[in-house]
Formats: sequence, structure tokens, C-alpha cells
Amino acid sequence: MNTPETNRPEIPPVAEVAPGASWLESARAHLPAVQRWAYLNTGSFGPLSRPAEEALAAWSRRQLEEGRIRPGLWDEMDALAAHLRRRFARLVHAPPESVALTHHTTEGMNIATWGLRWRPGDTLVTLATEHPGGMLPVYAAARHHGLDVRVVAHTEADTEASLLAKLEKAITPRTRLVAVSHVSWKTGMVLPIREIAELAHGQGAFLAVDGAQAVGAIPVDVRTLDADFYAFPGQKWLCGPEGVGGLYVRPECLDALQPAFVGYASLRDRDAWDETGHFIPAPGARRFETSTVYIPGLAGMAAGLTWLESLGFARIFAQVQEMTRLCRRELTTVPGVELLAPEPAAGLTVFRMAHTPPEEVVTFLARRGILVRSVRRPDGVRISTHFFNTPEEIARLVSGLQALGSG
Ligand SMILES: Cc1ncc(COP(=O)(O)O)c(C=O)c1O
Repeated sequence: MNTPETNRPEIPPVAEVAPGASWLESARAHLPAVQRWAYLNTGSFGPLSRPAEEALAAWSRRQLEEGRIRPGLWDEMDALAAHLRRRFARLVHAPPESVALTHHTTEGMNIATWGLRWRPGDTLVTLATEHPGGMLPVYAAARHHGLDVRVVAHTEADTEASLLAKLEKAITPRTRLVAVSHVSWKTGMVLPIREIAELAHGQGAFLAVDGAQAVGAIPVDVRTLDADFYAFPGQKWLCGPEGVGGLYVRPECLDALQPAFVGYASLRDRDAWDETGHFIPAPGARRFETSTVYIPGLAGMAAGLTWLESLGFARIFAQVQEMTRLCRRELTTVPGVELLAPEPAAGLTVFRMAHTPPEEVVTFLARRGILVRSVRRPDGVRISTHFFNTPEEIARLVSGLQALGSG
């Protein structure tokens, strides 16, 4: 039976914060991992927030102690999933019902790529700098259907204008799908998605956007961007648990995208199928969900979003900009450091250091308690600056690099 308590799958109280703490101190108090490190690798995994972890642990404990099935619990789990879909939709300014829950960005990019009704002679366009999460579904679907992939040679030297010129050449009336990132994981460049959408739509192609390095770092409005499909994760810039992500599907594209995987979670309701193979999909993007999910993860993600909203996304995005600008400015003062990508930036800064391979830089900094990562082709060291990072951490990074350069 649903008790009033179980109808509220919400959110345990947040950690104690010292009276008079600043916005930043209070935020950092909810991110224990940032006490331990100069945490400059959110682009790989953000620090898990305490509100997310507490909600996740509370659900997990309930599962342990109360069991995972009893009358009323399905409704509660459905309500939690619906709640998170709506929260994700609000976050990316999508209409309600146009967001499906996924397990990660890569799943969203696969759904968008495999679901199109491919025709002989179609081509797919992507960028050489794409993450495997967006690029490999393109190659795999192309191989499966016997189609061509055009890979645009995006480099760190590209500006918005040069990239658009290359894409304009590659996108033709035969192009069926353009798959690109909103923010490049290799260079940190923010891609001109709206203009890319114009190029794609102008030739009758769909645009799938990998938002892994954008959502939670910069404002994302999928309608203004004019994306057809937009995939994003919970575990990076939203500081949520791994295993939870979202996929926006433009409502007008629902009929063009076949669910490649289906199961009970894809249905309008649990009885909307029969043994002849007839089934009725959910009216919105939920039709791209398949089956059982990790409920504590959904609860953790929802609680983490509530916390971020309480901090204010406008302020979070402003802080990301401020810290990224500071990071870029300070890095240019280090002898031998060369920044790779032009502005505009989101939260990623990639640089090369003369005479030192990126992996060596990463290892050297980790020994000093500074978390960054390396990227390849183009080779560089990648810094992620999120709202919780501080000027002191940037100063530590800079003095670490100076020490490395002079040692
Ligand atoms: C641009 C980009 N796309 C996709 C991914 C993969 O994300 P996920 O683990 O959510 O599939 C990452 C990071 O790992 C990424 O940086």
C-alpha cells in the first residue's frame, strides 16, 4: 500500500553548513571529494554530490529492508521516473514528454543513430574529434546498413567559421544524419550547433547532438539549438550518479525514429501489447526506454538536481565561465604552455606543454593532489573547471606546471 511517506520519493536533508558560509563554501560542503583534491576532471566524472548520494543510499536501504516489490511500489517507481524525466526536460528547456531516461550519453546517441529508417545511398556525417560514444554508433550503423560515413577533419585550429565551411561541404542531399558534440571533449570548443542544425535541416538531414560536456556546464536549450536528438549524462557536470542520463527527441521526429530496443518500459501502459507482436508505444520519448532501471540511481539524480537548482543554474553557469576564463588566462602565463582551442569555451580547457607528454603532466599533477586528464589526437592535457573550483586551485595547477617545467 502507498503510505503518504512512500508517495514522496524525495530527498533527505542536506549536509550541515557552517553559519555565514558563502555560496561557494556551502556548495563545496556538499561535495566531499573536492575537499580531497583540486578536482579539475569533471569532464570525466564530476564529484558525486552529497544530496545525490544520500537519496541513492536511502533508496538502496529501503530496497534492502523493505524489499523491491510490494503493492504500490511500481506506482512509486513510475512516479519517480516521470519526475526525473520532467526535471531533465526542464533542464534542457525541452517540452515535457520529449525526454527519455537512458543510462548514459552513449545510449542516447545509439538510440538516435540506430532508430532512423536508413535508405540505400544515405550518408552519415560526423567529426574526427567525436567521442567514441557518438562516433562508434555512426560507424556501426553505417556498416550494418552498408552506408558511407563522411568524417570532417575538425582540428584544434578550427574556428566556428572554418568548421561550418567544412561541414557545409560534407552535408549533401544524401546526408541523413549529422552527429556532433555540443562541446568537444578533445579541444573544449563549443560548437555552433544552431548553425550546424541549419546546414543539416537545409539538406533534409537529422541532427543528433552529444551533450556530454555541455549539460550542467553551460545553458542548454534544445529548442533554440534546433537539435533533433540531444543526449546527455548525469555523472559529469550534474554531479549525479553514473548509470542515469537523458535523451531529448524532438516531438516532430518521434515518427521518424524507430525504437531500436523495446520492452515493457517502452509501452503506453503495461498492458499495451499482445502475443501477436502488436504493441502500442508510449506517446512521447519514453518509448525509447526499455526495461528495468536502477531506481536508487534515479532518486539520487533527482535529489542532485534539486540541490543544483537550489544553488541556481544561472549562478553555476556564470561560475563555470569565470573559472574557465581564469584558468585560460593563468595557463597562458606558464612558460611552454599552449592552449588548443579558441573561445567560446564551456568548462574544458585543453593545452599542450612543450617537451612534456600529456600523460606525464597528468601523473605529476596527481601526485600533488590535482586531478586532470590527457586527451589524444590532438594530444593535450584537459582541465575541467566547474562552479565549485576556486582561484586557489587554479593557482595550485599553475604552480604545479611551473614546477614541472623547471624541474
Ligand atoms: C563528448 C562525450 N561524449 C560521450 C561521452 C561518454 O559519456 P557516457 O559515459 O555518458 O556515455 C563522453 C565522456 O566520457 C564525452 O566526453
